[in-house]
Amino acid sequence: PEAKSLKLYQLPEQVGERVRLQGWVHRLRQQKTNFFVILRDGSGPLAQLVLSGDCIRTLDALDLTVESTIEVTGLVTKVKEGQSAPQGLEIVVDWWKIIGRAPAGEDAFEGRIHPDMDFSMRADLRHLELRGETATAVMRFRALLLRQFREWFYQNRTTEVTPPCMVQTSVEGGSTLFSFDYYGSPAYLTQSSQLYLETVLPSLGDVYCIQESFRAEKSLTRRHLSEYTHLEAELVFIKFKDLLDHLENLICDVVETLMADPIASEIVKQLNPEFVAPTRPFMRLDYRDAIKYLNEHGITKEDGTDHVVGDDIAEAAERKMTDQINRPIMLINFPKSLKSFYMKAIPGDEEFTESVDVLVPGVGEVVGGSMRISDFDELMAGYKREGIPHEPYYWFTDQRKYGTTEHGGYGLGVERLLAWFLGRYTVRECSLVYAKTRRVLR
Ligand code: 4AD
Ligand code: MG
Repeated sequence: PEAKSLKLYQLPEQVGERVRLQGWVHRLRQQKTNFFVILRDGSGPLAQLVLSGDCIRTLDALDLTVESTIEVTGLVTKVKEGQSAPQGLEIVVDWWKIIGRAPAGEDAFEGRIHPDMDFSMRADLRHLELRGETATAVMRFRALLLRQFREWFYQNRTTEVTPPCMVQTSVEGGSTLFSFDYYGSPAYLTQSSQLYLETVLPSLGDVYCIQESFRAEKSLTRRHLSEYTHLEAELVFIKFKDLLDHLENLICDVVETLMADPIASEIVKQLNPEFVAPTRPFMRLDYRDAIKYLNEHGITKEDGTDHVVGDDIAEAAERKMTDQINRPIMLINFPKSLKSFYMKAIPGDEEFTESVDVLVPGVGEVVGGSMRISDFDELMAGYKREGIPHEPYYWFTDQRKYGTTEHGGYGLGVERLLAWFLGRYTVRECSLVYAKTRRVLR
């Protein structure tokens, strides 16, 4: 008889119907009279299949393996009270076949992917690890998060753009640029799309992008990738305080929406049961007060000495402080000497900038942003201070020539936000590519 081809998420409406399913053998329990297969088809929930009678007296049944692909037809039934199965359902199989057999024995899937794999093994086997429940949940959550960001910006009349990845200017300094040959001229993989976002402010108003950024990071840590997904936005006709409020709203609203979404909140409950949704307002901590905080709490620099104003706050110190405070912090007003050429100085406090890093427990910095220099001469002085030739930036500088105005923006590391939200130890777990590391993670 005919059977409708369905995805597993559609099964709850099909009780009493005969259906056709295709998927991977996620788990397998072989008993004398019954085989129980947990099927996975990537559509979300799993489903339990029961094979018995003639169905298990076949040659295929003898070497059915985990991660083989199969096609089945069968009757959708509710499981008995007190029995547990995904979605409370069981498919009583009446016909089945193997589409693609996975190896048994030495090369069997279960033997290759196991919880105590070290980092370098993980990297090599990332393509298989991605089939696991944790990695699947992280990737599904990541998709929901990106969708909510887009929805939030849509609601806030912010236009999405897709800036180029191949560029000829640096945004965050030359030391982390990946360079390549562009038809005979030097070019780079983008570190940040900020400059391009600023360029379209006069035509599109508030804009954002979700784009890969690339950093040739010299040190390998839990939170640095060579390629990461960068959510960046640029907002026009705003003051510094508006930028801070915007960031608080973005993070709180998106977290709130996801915690109200049944699939997303279930994933958070599974992977990070201790997660506490942030509340407004975030703590706002002046850089100079942060230096005081570090010294008062015995958080020293890597060489064991105290921090002084002007010092960069290294990753370890930043994380220690954030973990102690244990809620999101907006660290504001960094010294000019630590920041990029484009950052606006605080009026009347010219050695410091209208800048902000958002820090979250377990990860540290997830957002870096600032108000931008809108004055032509101040920008020229910024290039000079940083020793950057201004010529290649003429198109960026032109924004100050043709109708300048106050504006600001930020970049948010998507994998870092996910690591915080889902309680992951490293950002690597939040990316498809689990890049091979030769050095040990700090
Ligand atoms: O602080 P960053 O370097 O700031 C900028 O690139 C600005 N131009 C952004 C802007 O204002 N439009 O990077 C922004 C964020 C960081 O806070 C961090 O979350 C993330 O990008 N990030 C990384 N994430 C993973 N791996 C790396 N190597 C990262 N480098 C930065
Ligand atoms: Mg930064």
